[in-house]
Amino acid sequence: MSFLTSLFKFTSHDMAIDLGTANTVVYVRGRGIVLNEPSVVAVETLNGVKRVKAVGDDAKLMMGKTPDSIEAIRPLRDGVIADIDIAEQMIKWFISKVHGHRRFLRFPEIVICVPSGSTSVERRAIRDAASNAGASQVFLIEEPMAAAIGADMPVTEPIGSMVVDIGGGTTEVAVLSLRGLAYTTSVRVGGDKMDEAIVSYVRRHHNLLIGEATAERIKKEYGIAQKPADGVGATIHIKGRDLVNGVPKEIAINQGQIADALAEPIGTIVEGVRIALENTAPELAADIVDQGIVLTGGGALLKGLDEELRDETGLPVTVAEDPLTCVAIGTGRAMEDPVFRGVLQTA
Ligand SMILES: Nc1ncnc2c1ncn2[C@@H]1O[C@H](COP(=O)(O)OP(=O)(O)O)[C@@H](O)[C@H]1O
Ligand SMILES: [Mg+2]
Repeated sequence: MSFLTSLFKFTSHDMAIDLGTANTVVYVRGRGIVLNEPSVVAVETLNGVKRVKAVGDDAKLMMGKTPDSIEAIRPLRDGVIADIDIAEQMIKWFISKVHGHRRFLRFPEIVICVPSGSTSVERRAIRDAASNAGASQVFLIEEPMAAAIGADMPVTEPIGSMVVDIGGGTTEVAVLSLRGLAYTTSVRVGGDKMDEAIVSYVRRHHNLLIGEATAERIKKEYGIAQKPADGVGATIHIKGRDLVNGVPKEIAINQGQIADALAEPIGTIVEGVRIALENTAPELAADIVDQGIVLTGGGALLKGLDEELRDETGLPVTVAEDPLTCVAIGTGRAMEDPVFRGVLQTA
């Protein structure tokens, strides 16, 4: 390798970005994952002028606790880009956080993973944001494809496989074969809807108002997709505000009740998988019987969700090794390994 080539390699800051509805994960060529933060932007409005106050971890800590002048925004919340300006600022913020103030011999190439439901206008906006942040070339990759590559599924072979990526705002179900998406569907249900289901269950059954952050914590710690064997499981103490007399109070519920609360969003995810299976060509369906279904995304970590899908479909179901970073790793591999060049999109 010539001196110049090695210098080029050394200073390469090519990046792969998983722009998730809940978390943004950045992978740098040759280094792996270097950033993993919530897709949240805290915006302050002073005298009618909006200013970004914090992004990522710092901004998420402010959610539900901001004064009137500050708003914590999740620009991609439901899988569509609700606020393109904020999304652009967030992308730029993360890119510059990774790069620091280093100077480059050449500007980096960036591969961004987008939700497969995003429109061409949204895709163009994401591409522009990355270009404006200094990227010389921007490629996009479909989320289910990135998830499947990250989970080591046989996407380049003529073998059908199914990936179910359960993110914050959406669940993407896809059948892949020969570097392509043979079938894909996206349902607007993911971890957020599970959090909301817990909030409304506690409100309805206990007259207690809790925040989404509290609900998410309960879900991660005690959430369960199927009722525990004894129907009850662990007891959970939850603090919030009493809806009747307005004062803070604590109640106790059990894991069986959490399973009841989560039944609806989980049912919608199961339904999405069933529709995808019904729409899969017979030869590919036959492969899926052998290959099974692979779960990725943070929602795959919900206890018992694999079991529930196994029961409902009769197929083998496995959870990818690291569901929360799987998509970023797959996006990174697609950037690094020429075998996957064909899955990168330029428009
Ligand atoms: N242990 C867990 N159990 C259940 N849900 C989880 C767990 N860990 C993370 N999650 C949920 O996963 C979702 C985020 O997943 P992620 O794949 O990062 O989403 P996205 O790709 O949309 O950004 C959040 O709703 C989060 O609450
Ligand atoms: Mg994701």
